[in-house]
Amino acid sequence: MIKKLALFLFFLVFSGYLFAQNPNIEIKKEKEVQNVHDIKDVKDAKNVKDEKKTFIDNLLSKMTLQEKAGQLRLISVGGDLTLDKVLDQIEAGEIGGIFNTVVEPDLFRMQERALKSPNKIPLFFGFDIIHGHRTVFPINLGIASTWDRGAIAKAAEVSAEEATSDGLNITWAPMVDITRDPRWGRVSEGFGEDPYLTSEAGRIFVQKMQKQSLADKKSLVTAVKHFALYGAVEGGREYNSTDMSERKMFQEYLVPYKAAIDAGSRAVMVSLVSVNGIPATANHWLLTEVLRNQWHFDGVVVSDHGAIRELINHGVASDPKDAVRVAIKAGIDMSMNDEYFLQFLPELVKEGAITEDEVNQACRRILELKYDMGLFSDPNRNLDPKLDIDTMFADNRLHREEARDVARRSIVLLKNENEILPLAKNKKIAVVGPLADSKRDILGSWAGAGRANLAVTPLEGIKSAVKNTKSVNYAFGANLSDDANLYRFLNLYGETAKFDNRPADKMIAEAVKIAQKSDVIIAFVGEAEGMAHESSSRTDLSLPASQKRLLKALKATGKPLVIALMNGRPLTLSEEYAQADAMLETWFLGTEGGNAIADVLFGDYNPSGKLPMSFPDNVGQIPVYYSHLNTGRPRGTENMGKYTTSYFDSPNEPLFPFGFGLSYTNFAMDFSLSSTEMNKEGEIVVTVNVENIGKKEGMQTVQLYLQDVTASVSRPVKELIGFENITLKPQSKGEVKFVIKYDMLKFWNDKMQYVAEPGKFNVFIGSDSTTQDKKTFTLLDK
Ligand code: NOJ
Repeated sequence: MIKKLALFLFFLVFSGYLFAQNPNIEIKKEKEVQNVHDIKDVKDAKNVKDEKKTFIDNLLSKMTLQEKAGQLRLISVGGDLTLDKVLDQIEAGEIGGIFNTVVEPDLFRMQERALKSPNKIPLFFGFDIIHGHRTVFPINLGIASTWDRGAIAKAAEVSAEEATSDGLNITWAPMVDITRDPRWGRVSEGFGEDPYLTSEAGRIFVQKMQKQSLADKKSLVTAVKHFALYGAVEGGREYNSTDMSERKMFQEYLVPYKAAIDAGSRAVMVSLVSVNGIPATANHWLLTEVLRNQWHFDGVVVSDHGAIRELINHGVASDPKDAVRVAIKAGIDMSMNDEYFLQFLPELVKEGAITEDEVNQACRRILELKYDMGLFSDPNRNLDPKLDIDTMFADNRLHREEARDVARRSIVLLKNENEILPLAKNKKIAVVGPLADSKRDILGSWAGAGRANLAVTPLEGIKSAVKNTKSVNYAFGANLSDDANLYRFLNLYGETAKFDNRPADKMIAEAVKIAQKSDVIIAFVGEAEGMAHESSSRTDLSLPASQKRLLKALKATGKPLVIALMNGRPLTLSEEYAQADAMLETWFLGTEGGNAIADVLFGDYNPSGKLPMSFPDNVGQIPVYYSHLNTGRPRGTENMGKYTTSYFDSPNEPLFPFGFGLSYTNFAMDFSLSSTEMNKEGEIVVTVNVENIGKKEGMQTVQLYLQDVTASVSRPVKELIGFENITLKPQSKGEVKFVIKYDMLKFWNDKMQYVAEPGKFNVFIGSDSTTQDKKTFTLLDK
């Protein structure tokens, strides 16, 4: 059947490149080539393994070196590489996988050509599905704020469901880089500062996306990223170097990648940065000794965008050919958007610089993945060539409801003086601010397949929640910033941020006017989505002057001021915190963001979110995180005067600590330990009594922290080792239990062995990381 697609331009911005999809695609035949490979339906596990091996051995024996090199290439259409050129390369057997195309008929067409290649090896299709696909969920920093395993699972499940429906097979997610420096723009993509919380989120993403079996048509293979340490770039400057002790790596930063791999992630994406002097892409220790030999990872290792050629800039390869050699030797299987693998791999083998076995090994892993995905028997799985653009972008009601629920759970209440929130629905409300009605911004970064026109802005959400929309007045109030350079930066790859040319005073006066005739002001301030993205590092984390002026003028009206923050990273907000009567962190909440915000503002949902990252009081404190070491001179040590670890011009503490978040009700907690001693085989049960002592039903996240008081190495003042949620009606009680087992006491000791050492442990229970409510037990030496 012949069908013409309407002109479709799909832009993605990443790594400094702009990619445009080719429009006007003709669809030729429906499911033309199927079952080109004779795959038997074998049920027995051993036979499946044997069958797979025989199949791949056979295939490899027929492939030329050129074709093998082709399988190691992950390519996206864009720039000079037009769709036609890509199609030709596919048919020549020069491409193994495609990424960044979500136009299903295009994918079908590519697969059709792959099945005409010499060995008819199907392609797989990848895309960045970071926080939702068509239905956009909150950015991951928001998802992490739910501290709710069910909500995290929902976001992952819906993402996989929509992505596979679009014909995709693999995603470059979850992003589990530990982030302790909010100057780095990509903190928005991760799950925050803590290894345990991030590991939990990563594990759930992998399990819910990949499912039990890759052969499941709804299974989306995950590539956990960015291995490793991308989140630890020096000074928070994008693509900068990282340098860290092996102990800190194994104890904290590597933990979430390992958790995702243990959960079964079949791919890993390598970070662009150098790790202790050696770029990750060239780092044999990282990619082979740790990942393969120690962790037994047998999936596919993918380099990040352009990482092979960047090895020359890093200064570890002399020219393109050398870069290919270095990457393969280190342990890269598949290169992303790189022109050199195909060009130089066969030559390198002929020259003896690398062995054909090394190429075979990488190729085998990719073929195995395709085999396990079921692509050899059903290459067109989930690909419908008849889909038109409208159907592809279908608006799914159920998914929207799920996204709304996750979004409202992501909101963190930071302040609520005199219980100004929740608001009655009959109040006169002034909705103000540059982010109050922005559809693009609320989606957040990395929402390439999301549709801004389906997003609900805060203004729309508030209007649809109140009884009388006339009681809601809106004013833009201020540009995000007065800085024209910032707008140039935000709009480098297509216009996303609009600058209002009216004089600033005029816009403020308009906002003040509606504020004066309202009962309450809700100001939506923060960042444009593009300010918290790849390549969006900042050194100043305060609100830009234009927004500060607006808030000052609003405050001067004397009306109650609710500051609703929209941003992708912790900001420095002490001034705003003092101004606000109530303050909400709403992150970038996705498609249903506006409705979710209204749910919280009007009390249809009692906020339960907790911060997954500390908010610094000022930039000079960075890095500021809760699980620091005590030092020899902790602040407040008696008789030490000023000679303790501190600043003379700043507190040590962040403005908002990790784990912090208020509710419209209050909770009291106390807890007990089942024993004050534990041996190797034993366990300690922690029983927490929680009581809702307020007037509204609400959910509390009970947080369990541990401190190893004395060990062969200094251990953090506390570390999160568990969390559970409990929902209680007013004046009711409930119980939460945790079990502490021997393995949870292990750490990397002075000899870099992963052990538990006998001695004292403090157990803390609380509603955030500042809790001092502790009990002690001893791990016995037997
Ligand atoms: C570069 C980014 O670093 C990575 O996270 C992303 O998956 C790739 N580009 C592909 O878009």
